Amino acid sequence: MALRTNPSSPAHPFRGSAHPPAPLPRKGCAGLDGDTRRARFAGMKMKPELRILLIGASGGIGQALAAAFDGATLFTLSRSGDGLDVTDEASVAGAAARLEGPFDLIFDATGGLEIGGRGPEKALAEIDAGAMAAQFALNAIGPALMLKHFAPLLARDKRAVFATLSARVGSIGDNRIGGWISYRAAKAAQNQIVRTAAIEMRRRNKESIVVALHPGTVATDLSAQYLGRHKSVTPGEAASNLVRVLQGLTPAHSGGFYDYAAKEIPW
Ligand SMILES: NC(=O)c1ccc[n+]([C@@H]2O[C@H](COP(=O)([O-])OP(=O)(O)OC[C@H]3O[C@@H](n4cnc5c(N)ncnc54)[C@H](OP(=O)(O)O)[C@@H]3O)[C@@H](O)[C@H]2O)c1
Repeated sequence: MALRTNPSSPAHPFRGSAHPPAPLPRKGCAGLDGDTRRARFAGMKMKPELRILLIGASGGIGQALAAAFDGATLFTLSRSGDGLDVTDEASVAGAAARLEGPFDLIFDATGGLEIGGRGPEKALAEIDAGAMAAQFALNAIGPALMLKHFAPLLARDKRAVFATLSARVGSIGDNRIGGWISYRAAKAAQNQIVRTAAIEMRRRNKESIVVALHPGTVATDLSAQYLGRHKSVTPGEAASNLVRVLQGLTPAHSGGFYDYAAKEIPW
């Protein structure tokens, strides 16, 4: 586990507003590259009192988030860096036991599309029980185990956020082109777990916020083979967008599924 702190006193705290997140500004962005956008929209330092746990800090989006959480007291965990395997309950429980709360934000940036060399299915005939189970283990059971073992480390007497990266393709209502059955189904299960956890966690802390977030199509290792002609954003832009969404979340958003512009996605 790595701990990064920034002791300098930042001007802008990470905080929720009383209103739903505003849409991202679009005007004046044309021609800016991802890093410049990040500097403009999320280049605000967070307060060092803000304690964040970032799980999956080694991933494409995870690394960019670690940079975007600049100024906060940031704890990071990853499989490659710390041996945390979110599909193994003992590993998750062990990592949680070594941490001390309370955290203001726990962000899960783990997940996978191609697992063990098996990519997403294009047709029913390609379904493989083992590959489907692996999808559920990582993308659905992983977040469930993180909620079980890490969420108790969230603050109980103030605003506290648990966010997990889901994917728009996990939306049942938005599924118009089919395919990717196991990944879609695992992400849909992840969303149901988030919804259910949010209800339980509200009983413990009325200011708790548990959300599933879609980061957009982001140019990372996960998406590299599947981007085709799809437009994508850089990890830096995605992290900038996600930080903006996090900043605007209120307890009224808890149990929801939102995209990178804070727009609610149908289940
Ligand atoms: N990229 C996109 O376009 C896109 C779109 C929609 C949703 N998402 C979602 O965003 C999340 C992050 O995606 P990404 O693009 O950043 O992917 P990525 O670059 O491939 O990163 C995946 C992360 O998951 C971690 N991970 C994988 N298996 C794990 C395990 N068993 N235990 C612990 N950690 C594990 C990896 O850890 P190590 O590297 O340390 O092994 C890495 O930190 C995923 O949930 C994905 O479904 C991504």
